[in-house]
Amino acid sequence: MEVIIRRDPAAAALLVARIIAKELRANPHMTLGLATGRTMEAVYRHLVQMHRKENLDFSLCRTFNLDEYVGLPREHPGSYYRYMHEHLFKKVNIDPRNAHLPNGAARNLDQECERYEQDIRRFGGINLQLLGIGRAGHIGFNEPLSALFSRTRVKALTPTTIQQNAPLFGGPGQVPRRAITMGVGTILEAHRLLLLATGSEKGEIIAKAVEGPITSMISATALQLHRRCTVVVDDAAATHLQGADYYRWVFANEPEWAEFRKG
Ligand code: F6R
Repeated sequence: MEVIIRRDPAAAALLVARIIAKELRANPHMTLGLATGRTMEAVYRHLVQMHRKENLDFSLCRTFNLDEYVGLPREHPGSYYRYMHEHLFKKVNIDPRNAHLPNGAARNLDQECERYEQDIRRFGGINLQLLGIGRAGHIGFNEPLSALFSRTRVKALTPTTIQQNAPLFGGPGQVPRRAITMGVGTILEAHRLLLLATGSEKGEIIAKAVEGPITSMISATALQLHRRCTVVVDDAAATHLQGADYYRWVFANEPEWAEFRKG
């Protein structure tokens, strides 16, 4: 795992977008794993800009989203399908047939989860998976006690998550109680992982995820097991990291990051 600390949320999101853009340019047929949530909005804004101003091409790539609420039709304003459509899909040249999300309104949810896993496998797995982190440490909707080898399945949301997502639904009572989510095991199979967290409210959980013991109570700690995981945070989310000086030194000195240091 490597941790990159940028001075503010804007710089952190720009760096994440530049990493994605570099991978997409190197492999236009790539399969990109996508996340939703407030943190990701800035990343998608940058990708849309890059598409418009720098010809970043999405026409050949395929995407798989991490999760979707159970029981919401695609058109519901709170659905992740709508989120992706609004923030990215309708603004870039992605082929809608190549943009995959779990169907939270499927009649047979177990079958839908299995189908999603099979589709990811059928298309050769995920090259780069984008991740956010919930305040209690979930990745995707892998709430506490998600098995580290879990696959795509239905998971009950915690009251914290429901509270966290309430503004998008006009109150906690309106938030769906369950979601389909890629499992921790599914996420760990992606070739590369890229997590973005910004703001002081993510500081404590980032320290636990990056430097704490691995536990299924905090699914983000499983990222420590991955061969190629990059965590990008801003100064505010980095305040509790004990190794912050070392992480800054690596970013400032490793040749791999030279092209990303500006901005
Ligand atoms: C959503 C997802 C979640 C969010 C997390 C952070 O697809 O995967 O894990 O990334 O809940 O959400 P924000 O960015 O709203 O704090």
